[in-house]
Amino acid sequence: MIIQKSATPRIATFDPQNFSFGDTFTDHMIICEYENGKWGDVKLIPYGPLPFTPAMMGLNYGQACFEGMKAYKDDEGEVFLFRPEKNFERINKSASRLAMPEVTEEMFLGGLKALVDMDREWIPQGVGTSLYIRPLIFATEEVLKARISNKYMFAIVATPAKSYYTEPVSVLISDFYSRAASGGVGSAKAAGNYAASFYPTQLANQQGYEQVIWTDDSTHEYFEESGTMNVFVRINDTIYTPPTSEKILDGVTRDSFIHLAKRRGIEVRIEPVSVKKVIEAQKDGSLKEVWGVGTAVVTSVFRALGYKGEKLELPTLPLEESFALSLQQDLVNIQNNKSEDPFGWRMKV
Ligand code: COI
Repeated sequence: MIIQKSATPRIATFDPQNFSFGDTFTDHMIICEYENGKWGDVKLIPYGPLPFTPAMMGLNYGQACFEGMKAYKDDEGEVFLFRPEKNFERINKSASRLAMPEVTEEMFLGGLKALVDMDREWIPQGVGTSLYIRPLIFATEEVLKARISNKYMFAIVATPAKSYYTEPVSVLISDFYSRAASGGVGSAKAAGNYAASFYPTQLANQQGYEQVIWTDDSTHEYFEESGTMNVFVRINDTIYTPPTSEKILDGVTRDSFIHLAKRRGIEVRIEPVSVKKVIEAQKDGSLKEVWGVGTAVVTSVFRALGYKGEKLELPTLPLEESFALSLQQDLVNIQNNKSEDPFGWRMKV
């Protein structure tokens, strides 16, 4: 790895008590370029802009994918990554689906560890805070032919993070727009999936909802995801989440919640979740909770569901009664080294 330390670090100006998610970047970043059929040297360099042209393929055709993951600092100042091998697997699945070259374990895990180690002072301490890490791959060839690019960049940037959404939110169940289509790229963390979600989300915002619950593209009768998260529904004491598929992202937080719920003895049913079943459960009072999970947000609890002009309220449960919040606490305790790590999810840096 080629290492060039920043000559003008900004860490002294960073106030861990006063920042917002995703707009402050640490002093360094990882980059690695691909051309002539192979990846070059991994470079750890000062964070900053790179020279690209508007003719770059990644900008024109969206050949780009990313990951979201976090590093945590415990009370003693030890730093841990959370299940980074899952993100390594997934970025390569996304890359393959978008006809991009896979990255090596040395590039991905080696790059992550080097960046987090170099910028460890940027990781805020305390439960609820972390360093959000964004690995990405994008096409850099300067050509406007619509074909697979021959040049790419792999990069990793990092930004201090605290909870992304905090208060319970209202979500609109989509009866028209979809996040993903059969045979499409829904299971890839493709940049374009996020671009496509912004307009329907803006429409939902205009109707007073913070997020959209994405339903399937052919019937709009089944839940798929919510916002940028996987979705869970609790009816009585059973939790339901749709199975991952070509349309549903295999979320690391989703998988962690399933493990943690089973460990608590909660019945988890991984099966299609119909809008009808959820609405009926809301009407008869058996719908206890609906929430989204993702790396950035961890858990976003929903307080109301909008559907075909109706707003269906949900109870707001205290921690002792809420599966969503209890499971979130179990997860956060493992991530922050405040509890045992029964599944071997922490990786010390
Ligand atoms: C994540 O939770 O990592 C996401 O993908 C959300 C991000 C787009 C902010």
